[in-house]
This record gives sequence, C-alpha cells and structure tokens, in this order.
Amino acid sequence: MKILILQASPRANGNTAWMAEEYKNAAEAAGHEVTLVNVSHKKIAGCLACEYCHGKGGGACIQKDDMQELYPLMAEAEVLVLAAPIYYFTLNAQIQAPIQRMYCVNKPAKVRKMALMVSSYSPGVYTGATAEYKDICNYWGVTDSGIVTAKLDEQKTEATKAKIQALVSNL
Ligand SMILES: Cc1cc2nc3c(=O)[nH]c(=O)nc-3n(C[C@H](O)[C@H](O)[C@H](O)COP(=O)(O)O)c2cc1C
Repeated sequence: MKILILQASPRANGNTAWMAEEYKNAAEAAGHEVTLVNVSHKKIAGCLACEYCHGKGGGACIQKDDMQELYPLMAEAEVLVLAAPIYYFTLNAQIQAPIQRMYCVNKPAKVRKMALMVSSYSPGVYTGATAEYKDICNYWGVTDSGIVTAKLDEQKTEATKAKIQALVSNL
C-alpha cells in the first residue's frame, strides 16, 4: 500500500522523528511504498476559512504555500500516519495545519487506514490528541489501525519499536 507519514516534530533527532523512521523501516520491510514528510520544516499556514476552495477554486486552496506539495501526496496515499509530539496537552500546531488544510477537498481521496504516533514528556496527556484523531478517522470514514504513545521513559525503546511494528502488521 502507499503510505504517507506526516512527521511534525521540528527536532530532527527527537522521539517523534525516531518513531516515524521506525514505522517507515517496518512498513518498507513489509513491502509497502512509504513517503515520509517532515511537515514542521514546511511553511504550511492555517486555513483562512475564505471558502474560495468551495467556490471559484473548485477544490483548490487559495494559499500557495508548501501545502501544495502535500496535496498530491495526500491524494495518492492509502494509509495516512500522523506522528506528532504533544504540545500543551494536544497534537502540536505543525500537524494541525496540514490536517485542517484538507478542508478544500474534505478528505484524502484514497486513504482507508490511519495510525497515530505521539510522544510526550509526561504520562496521561493523550486525551485530546487521541480524541481528535479518532474523530477524524470517523469523519473521514477510515479505519484506525492503532495508536502508539511514548512518554519519556518509553522513547526509543525496544518495547515502543515492537508496538510500532504491530501498527504496521495491522495494515
Ligand atoms: C511547546 C511545548 C509544549 C509541550 N507540552 C507538553 C505537554 O503538554 N505535556 C507533555 O507531556 N509534554 C509536553 N512537551 C514535551 C514534548 O511533548 C516531549 O518532549 C516530546 O517527546 C517531544 O517530542 P520530539 O522529541 O519528537 O520533539 C512540550 C514541549 C514543547 C516544546
């Protein structure tokens, strides 16, 4: 399957980046075609709610920023993996922007399954992130293939690696 991983931490050698790489390695080993994008290194603005896309734009966003690179990848992906750190008890802004910019097409056309990987310092900070993720799965009509969380003492561990491999096995 064609898998798109959106990695949203600005820390190149951080925990979220590690989780995304582990997912990519496991998925490629299983024969999937994987594209990994660090969206935190992209210039992706928030949705303007201008409704250009639903009128004259005919499904195209009026904002010509780096989201234009992502739209074709989103359109082709069959599996969408969100990998993000928790900032202030929810998914960080860098992952929210590309999700919300899908407003112009409503949902990624071919995505059938999603997965979520989140990292945090503390335990018990995932309620907002997981609720949003599950609501998006329902809204887009896609199957949740699983969630992996990693607080400080779970980061870059063999146990977390095994959980990520299990996510890939769920596809
Ligand atoms: C702006 C900001 C807000 C954060 N808010 C939280 C938080 O609410 N709860 C928490 O447990 N960790 C919080 N953290 C810590 C990160 O979630 C944690 O260090 C995470 O592992 C970072 O992932 P990374 O290594 O991929 O960048 C915050 C970090 C930053 C920079």
